[in-house]
Amino acid sequence: MKVCVVGAGAREHALADALSKSADVVVAPGNPGMDGVSCTDIPPEHVGADLWVVGPEAPLVDGLADRIRARGGLVFGPGADGARLEGSKAWMKDLLSAARVPTASYRVLADQGEALQYLRTTRGPWVIKTDGLAAGKGVLVTSSLREAEKDVRAKLSGDAFGDAGRRLVIEEALEGEELSLMAVCDGRRAYPVASAQDYKRLGDGGTGTNTGGMGAYSPVPFADGELEGQVMERAVLPTLHALKKRGVDYRGVLYAGLMLTEEGPKVLEFNVRFGDPEAQVVLPRWAGDAAATFASAAEGRLSDADAPTFSKDSAVCVVLASPGYPESPRVGARIEGLRQAREVPGATVYSAGVASGPLGQGLVTAGGRVLAVVGRGPDLASARQIAYKATSLVSWPDMVYRSDIAGIAAGAGQ
Ligand code: AMP
Ligand code: GLY
Repeated sequence: MKVCVVGAGAREHALADALSKSADVVVAPGNPGMDGVSCTDIPPEHVGADLWVVGPEAPLVDGLADRIRARGGLVFGPGADGARLEGSKAWMKDLLSAARVPTASYRVLADQGEALQYLRTTRGPWVIKTDGLAAGKGVLVTSSLREAEKDVRAKLSGDAFGDAGRRLVIEEALEGEELSLMAVCDGRRAYPVASAQDYKRLGDGGTGTNTGGMGAYSPVPFADGELEGQVMERAVLPTLHALKKRGVDYRGVLYAGLMLTEEGPKVLEFNVRFGDPEAQVVLPRWAGDAAATFASAAEGRLSDADAPTFSKDSAVCVVLASPGYPESPRVGARIEGLRQAREVPGATVYSAGVASGPLGQGLVTAGGRVLAVVGRGPDLASARQIAYKATSLVSWPDMVYRSDIAGIAAGAGQ
């Protein structure tokens, strides 16, 4: 089978790696750090393939899967109708309410006066989200009314996130442990993927701004089969059925971002694709034939034989970012030590925001999140040690990363 992976980041690098075990893979467009992976600049819909796997949300929201399907192609990824789950938080919340999926109570607001009035007449903390796509950076959680007001003004005026912020979802702040659960869906059926936990904040100890994700690990010790079953029954399957009722045939990954509250798991968000960096810890542990499972889902005929299974080991991913990420990453620095990091036993380095160096020599930084360093080992502690050992070998001026990824789960006391 020939598979075209669409995208250019570390998640797509991990997808290419996992799919290469059983298929011929080409990544469109990929990036120059994807060692040993075939990449092409041909637009994805013109690449010859048996299956397309779309990594990022933006092309899905933009209807890429519809365009490929219209040409007779088989796609693992929802059409623009299903991708609205991620493309519009207001639409997503409305669907969740209709399907009675547990989620934070919310208001959708587009008028500045009304939004400010709403803040002043409710009690914080407030959670203020852009309706549209903001690369994981459009959410502010704050107990400060002044900060909330400033954020509402910046978003609604279009200054902060352009049109994506001209409508807001302001919701109740939930408390608890966060968990990501992804499922492979074929329009009617869904099978869960191994659990993963993501680190959204920039700084150690969960400080600083929200980012696209600074690290992840899998499996999550507290995410047992019972919790997974609960999330499938109460969140994933009702959402899939609600989509079907609205005429949406959802084929691809449905990613539930959850808060495990005292009242049970509640959905914070849905994404319509693999998480980044969750994919980098889940896909290396994929034990079965990922290409066959994605193809079955894309064809609408998932069966128990396609249910994903995972290796018993653990994976930890540390994201290396440019200084200034996420607001204004400073790029163009030469990346040192990548080869040495890749030689660490048990380590894999997936590349994202990189470009070829001057005269084609080495790589330079070219984006916010630059590399995803993954360690695998028999348990979280050893996987974590491998990830940080490889991380210590990579450098560029003012490189940014968190030093506490998987620390608590691995018993490192952080
Ligand atoms: P989202 O992109 O909607 O998942 O939001 C990004 C991050 O903001 C989440 O991972 C949470 O840490 C936080 N967050 C989002 N919604 C809420 C909420 N209702 N209560 C508390 N924290 C939230
Ligand atoms: N890591 C969160 C996301 O992919 O949206």
